[in-house]
Amino acid sequence: MKTQVCIIGAGPAGLLLGHLLRAEGVDCVVLERRSPDYVLSRIRAGVLENITVSLMERLGLDQRLKAEGLPHDGFNLADGERLIRIDIADLTGGQQVVVYGQTELTRDLMDAREERGLEVIYETEDTALFDVESDAPYVTYTKDGTQHRVDCRFIVGCDGFHGPSRKAIPASVGKEYMREYPFGWLGILADVPPCNHELIYANHERGFALASMRSETRSRYYVDVPLTDKVDDWSDERLWDELAIRLGPEAAANITRGSALEKSIAPLRSFVFAPMRHGSLLLCGDSAHIVPPTGAKGLNLAASDVHYAAEALTGFFNKSDNDAITAYSDTALARVWKSERFSWSLTKLMHRFPEDGLFERAMQQAELDYIASSRAAQTSIAENYVGLPV
Ligand code: APR
Ligand code: PHB
Repeated sequence: MKTQVCIIGAGPAGLLLGHLLRAEGVDCVVLERRSPDYVLSRIRAGVLENITVSLMERLGLDQRLKAEGLPHDGFNLADGERLIRIDIADLTGGQQVVVYGQTELTRDLMDAREERGLEVIYETEDTALFDVESDAPYVTYTKDGTQHRVDCRFIVGCDGFHGPSRKAIPASVGKEYMREYPFGWLGILADVPPCNHELIYANHERGFALASMRSETRSRYYVDVPLTDKVDDWSDERLWDELAIRLGPEAAANITRGSALEKSIAPLRSFVFAPMRHGSLLLCGDSAHIVPPTGAKGLNLAASDVHYAAEALTGFFNKSDNDAITAYSDTALARVWKSERFSWSLTKLMHRFPEDGLFERAMQQAELDYIASSRAAQTSIAENYVGLPV
């Protein structure tokens, strides 16, 4: 097969990019290792920044997001009994975030692929990249036992942290920045009303907790747990008991318990790979960077990468402009680093680290006191949470 852009991975990054390129008349094909059902079975976060909402609007794929998404004007930091509300709308001139599950967004992008002429080939195996340093790279894969080859002008790796694309960039060129955290997030999804109409991130002496939601009847909660813990160590009852303690008395009084639809533990890491372009290979999303979920930046960073990549590729094919391609890595990384910093700093502020002593804890306390009393501090958090300009 011959196309202009071969996209590897049909998660939110690959699908968003595919739709944006098709909308500009650029030919592309998306190769996905898993089945459509498997891709939709992944439970991920769901707080959308402006950039993600505006890309869906631009594609005209925002109907369900607008109908079912929950616009939020603020969120909360719980510090023991104290609730510090960050009034996003007031502090950012009326901006909001939208609570809408990443799974739902991925479903909207998948459902529109046929009508928009976006070819996605599912259940591909042994995907491999070749000649990425040339102007004529190609990808091979196997499907139903038959070997296939895709010749293209650019390959875009949207294949997540474990995908092959990043590994196609020689170690002599690539640099990895990594921070792993000494805890994971145990999440529960349940068909119960949320305990608060806004998100609550809690720093309690027993550990971190987050109260989030998918709708007014479906809630998502998290506590941090040691990396040695297993899901089976946590009965629903034990988890609800722990949430009630860590989220504080006010939230606890409003918690409705229910049985888990899904329960899983995700490790926390900060990871950046640079450069995000090597020859005719561009990286977008988790293939190039991972953020800890504190601050819900993962999906939104994938969206901003895709925004820059679509501009660069469309400029190359429709205006013979090579500049944006050349600048892609620096442009995308500039925003990636700021989101990495915010996610890392919110993780440090709201979690108890086993290695922390009295001084570190006193610093957390002082920072929360400062945030509670300073409009400037709250504004900084609000503008990062709602999403920095692209
Ligand atoms: N061939 C084809 N597809 C592959 C391969 C491969 N060898 N390896 C991985 N993939 C697919 C995965 O099956 C997955 O569907 O690439 C896709 C990557 O999707 P995501 O992991 O969702 O990454 P991305 O699209 O960058 O979205 C980032 O996802 O993990 C969350 O928190 C993260 O919210 C962020 C968002
Ligand atoms: C979620 O709703 O799953 C969620 C929300 C905010 C986060 C992380 C996860 O920071």
